[in-house]
Amino acid sequence: MGMVGGGEGSMIGPVHRMAARLDGLSELVTAAFSSDPAITALTGAREGIDSSRLYPTWQEMISNESRQPEGIRPHFISIVTPNHLHYGPAKMALEAGFHVICDKPLCMSVAEAIDLYDTVERTGMMFCTTYNYSGYPMVKLAREMVLGGSLGDVRKVAVEYFQGWLASPVEKSGNRQASWRSDPARAGIAGAMADIGTHAFNLAEYVSGLEVVTLSADLHSVVPGRVLDDDGSVILHFSNGAGGTLLASQIATGEENNLSLRIYGEKGGLSWRQMEPNTLTAMWPDRPPEVFRTGTTFTDSGLAGRMHSRLPAGHPEGFIEAFASIYRNFALDIIARQEERHADIKADYPGIHDGVRGMKFLEAAVASGLSNSARKTV
Ligand SMILES: NC(=O)c1ccc[n+]([C@@H]2O[C@H](COP(=O)([O-])OP(=O)(O)OC[C@H]3O[C@@H](n4cnc5c(N)ncnc54)[C@H](O)[C@@H]3O)[C@@H](O)[C@H]2O)c1
Repeated sequence: MGMVGGGEGSMIGPVHRMAARLDGLSELVTAAFSSDPAITALTGAREGIDSSRLYPTWQEMISNESRQPEGIRPHFISIVTPNHLHYGPAKMALEAGFHVICDKPLCMSVAEAIDLYDTVERTGMMFCTTYNYSGYPMVKLAREMVLGGSLGDVRKVAVEYFQGWLASPVEKSGNRQASWRSDPARAGIAGAMADIGTHAFNLAEYVSGLEVVTLSADLHSVVPGRVLDDDGSVILHFSNGAGGTLLASQIATGEENNLSLRIYGEKGGLSWRQMEPNTLTAMWPDRPPEVFRTGTTFTDSGLAGRMHSRLPAGHPEGFIEAFASIYRNFALDIIARQEERHADIKADYPGIHDGVRGMKFLEAAVASGLSNSARKTV
């Protein structure tokens, strides 16, 4: 694999590297880690990458690496730069014949997202958008239970992502992650909705198996001086008529990464929290709640447990492992394709469609927020 972004001091790049390595399927062989060549050299040395394959720009990396012979040439490029630097490298990498893993939100607009979608279709390359929460075993189990009919028809979906790290203007005191996230030129049209709302949106659509068709949003920039939203509430309307709520806030003082999902059907409900990711609680009208845990006999019998839980029950597994399952599933598909085992390609990771959905959600939420919460199509 190659990597764009993820230099020393960055947040998610090192997580991608750990996730890629966990199953021994991917090796990082080339990178443009930063716009600063000294940072790229430093990170590359720490990662043990041959200095001849470290590049000052992602353009040079993609261009030079696409000319490497098979066996040396990377199979995919991982993009972990701020949002404004997703579209360019993703498009160039696809056109140069690389598969792509790109972090969310996919890009800066629906128009760019559709162009990337078309590029994936045209080039036939594989694409993964790292909506990594869908890699958790209990999220997989929740989806299996919903799609298998355990809850009956879905009626209500409530998803929340609360963080507190932007409760004060840390972007003004050198916090680099906050600095680009609060700048529309680098973050895009939204703040909290782009950063964590898109994760919540993906989780809601993934577990419910439904698409959101319309929404109404109320967005706020709570901390003085901030241009983009740092707090928002969205009412969701799903394709089957179910209703839902999506709350995303980065000014929820004291919160860490409190992502939660509750989903209710006519026969029962499910509740999951990412800060206790190995537990899924099912609620029934006529009997006590059921608590499902990773690594146990019941969950091991299903695809979710067998494929996505990695440890015996009670040993904590979490964020890195879930992220790694996304990388593993993507790498297994690449290998299956190389070996022409097309029936083994599962596409069990969030793809380009999920990336486009995230951008449609964002544009609808921002348009609604700017027009007194008018209902908008997603
Ligand atoms: N999936 C998740 O859970 C998750 C979590 C955090 C961030 N993200 C996403 O990941 C992306 C990066 O976020 P972050 O918090 O790691 O940001 P960051 O600021 O910590 O890191 C960004 C990296 O990109 C590099 N970069 C900037 N311009 C570059 C260029 N021209 N060429 C090469 N590298 C360049 C920077 O040097 C830095 O190393 C964002 O899109 C963000 O939304 C996803």
